[in-house]
Amino acid sequence: MAYAAGVDVGSTQTKAVIVDEHRRIVARALTMTGAHVTRAAEQAFAEALRAGNLEEEEVEYVVGTGYGRYKVTFGNTQVTEISCHGRGAVQMFPRTRTVVDMGGQDTKAIRVAPTGEIQDFCMNDKCAAGTGRFLGAAARALDIPLDALGATALRGEKAVKISTTCTVFAESEVLGWLGRGKKVEDVLLGVHESIAGRSAGLVRRVGIEEEVTFTGGVALNVAMIATLTRALGVAVNVSEDSHYMGALGAALFALDHVFAARTPARQPA
Ligand SMILES: Nc1ncnc2c1ncn2[C@@H]1O[C@H](COP(=O)(O)OP(=O)(O)OP(=O)(O)O)[C@@H](O)[C@H]1O
Ligand SMILES: [Mg+2]
Repeated sequence: MAYAAGVDVGSTQTKAVIVDEHRRIVARALTMTGAHVTRAAEQAFAEALRAGNLEEEEVEYVVGTGYGRYKVTFGNTQVTEISCHGRGAVQMFPRTRTVVDMGGQDTKAIRVAPTGEIQDFCMNDKCAAGTGRFLGAAARALDIPLDALGATALRGEKAVKISTTCTVFAESEVLGWLGRGKKVEDVLLGVHESIAGRSAGLVRRVGIEEEVTFTGGVALNVAMIATLTRALGVAVNVSEDSHYMGALGAALFALDHVFAARTPARQPA
């Protein structure tokens, strides 16, 4: 059995996925990117190897992606995260035509062809207000663990309208609303609606064509799934591998190289 790997070094978290030659995920791992980017990439890959009970030599090709892709020093080549999220999403949900990737730093809207090829994309520029970082700032301000943020927001009944579009000011606005007697749930629902609204605006620029697949770490947030679905007006595909979609796409590009290096007769169907 041949194996290939993708390592997605995001601004916030580094993800590694190993696939076998049938394009099945055999292992995955995640670590914080932090300041030592190469080390994070190595650690995520090593953890994935351990999780899959594989030796490094068994992985024939490694593709790096994400903002730190050139720091994947053990990788054979690099592919942009736009291409990788598109490829991963189409593999996981073959009818995907639109991908929304919400990561720590950026939100990207991607239009993909049925083949998985990228036709167009759009990205929030500079400002992280529509992303995981904004949610992280709100979580910190409220002292709520990130993985409980979504469930708390969903208990909100009357969303508070959040006016700041800047992560730096998110914390003070959130605390300001609490000081004026608003419920935590309603403030948080407002934060999610604000991000969903801005992300939907980005998606409209590439066109909302079904099916829409939601990728990136923020796709783990149940309130973000709900508010994004409302803002887009269409359902979104989410999988437990959504956070790993870029790494999966990278692993599939790596697998292409493994196949290309073989004689055509040896390629599995
Ligand atoms: N368990 C969780 N529950 C809710 N949200 C989460 C969870 N884990 C991560 N996140 C969110 O996902 C974000 C990180 O996502 P991801 O790993 O896709 O970003 P990244 O690839 O590092 O960033 P970028 O693509 O912008 O460079 C965090 O900022 C956080 O908001
Ligand atoms: Mg990312």
